[in-house]
Amino acid sequence: MRMIDLIERKKRGGALSEKEIRYFIKGFTSGEIPDYQAAALLMAICFTGMTDQEIAWMTDAMACSGDRVDLSSIPGIKVDKHSTGGIGDKTTLILAPLVAACGVPVAKMSGRGLGYTGGTVDKLEAIPGFCTEMDQEAFLETVKKIGVCVVGQSGNLAPADKKLYALRDVTATVDSIPLIAASVMSKKIAAGADAIVLDVKCGSGAFMKTAQDASHLAREMVAIGRACGRRMAAVITNMDVPLGHCIGNGLEVAEAIAVLKGEGPDDLREVCLALASQMLSLARKGSPEDCRAMAKKALDSGAALEKFRQMCIAQKGDHTILERPQSLYEKAAVYELAAPQDGWIRQMDAETCGRASMLLGAGRETKDSAIDPAAGIVLCRKTGEAVRKGEVLARLYTNHPDRLEQARRILLESYVFAAEKPDDIPLIYDVILEK
Ligand code: URA
Repeated sequence: MRMIDLIERKKRGGALSEKEIRYFIKGFTSGEIPDYQAAALLMAICFTGMTDQEIAWMTDAMACSGDRVDLSSIPGIKVDKHSTGGIGDKTTLILAPLVAACGVPVAKMSGRGLGYTGGTVDKLEAIPGFCTEMDQEAFLETVKKIGVCVVGQSGNLAPADKKLYALRDVTATVDSIPLIAASVMSKKIAAGADAIVLDVKCGSGAFMKTAQDASHLAREMVAIGRACGRRMAAVITNMDVPLGHCIGNGLEVAEAIAVLKGEGPDDLREVCLALASQMLSLARKGSPEDCRAMAKKALDSGAALEKFRQMCIAQKGDHTILERPQSLYEKAAVYELAAPQDGWIRQMDAETCGRASMLLGAGRETKDSAIDPAAGIVLCRKTGEAVRKGEVLARLYTNHPDRLEQARRILLESYVFAAEKPDDIPLIYDVILEK
């Protein structure tokens, strides 16, 4: 088999066979197929796409490229969730303890930051002492004991995806529906849960810019999961505007704690309830409506907060942050961004907000740069709200005052002001259930 023949056929829109796809994934992961040929094939896939069958083969080949997590020793239906990534997305910090508090085990592996902001692991590590590296046995024992554990993805989980993603990131081949679907689902299948809920983000801060593309991606991933014997649901949620008010690791943990206390911003709480109701329903806890009521009760009664406390203790994190969440970000100096004019906020570019927060220290500029857990942004006003000139639009937290003016300028670029109140934008576009 020759890689050049695969590239040639894909360039012309032809389909690859199962053998050819496995040859590519195996050869690329082992280093036999060079980056330049892999990049050419990825670019051809971006232009000509893949059939559902090709995507399923690619997912399976990537899932089989490393370790597979065996969760069968944990009783009950294990549920996982995955977000395709967005700015201010701290839902896992809320959902893992929330779903566990409702009696469904959550054994979750999460990633570090992709793009401008930290990932779930970076956020958890903003909690002093919190340990996200555990061996398999301790991970399983923690879930058996308290019902929940969130750790970093093991180094050898879907290594083909790790290597391919790094190449896609530098060859402008990330935003391809077949490649994203295979990337996400290979990790989810290898991570071993029985049921998976996908949060497919849609908007300016997401890979999928339109509801149509988000729906296409969601359907593709639900179909792959079904074909692999998993119970599946996908919720398509808005990412034109950052989720919640906080961007930045310590700030986002503090905001997640507020939601777990039954407070916090409405949009974040609502997205969490929508995802939790699907997770609980896939775990056969009842209809999505009954499960939503169950999740709401767990938030409002303090049961989910208590589960988060247990998770912090089990993972050696400082649980006193639940009483003093401001300790997570008070080491940074705070600056304000004032509204330059009166008006309604018609639009905010979520990705631009992420860029500003990265500059303040909340994200990685290169894969080895350190994250400042206290850095970030609190958005005091968001799309759909009115402001008066001089009112505070946002608070910027940083230990790099030299970057402040540039961050302020970038953040201000994300806002579009209008004289009229803009139309409301939906928070949840659609829910896609298995057929
Ligand atoms: N998230 C992933 O895990 N993979 C992608 O390709 C895009 C988003």
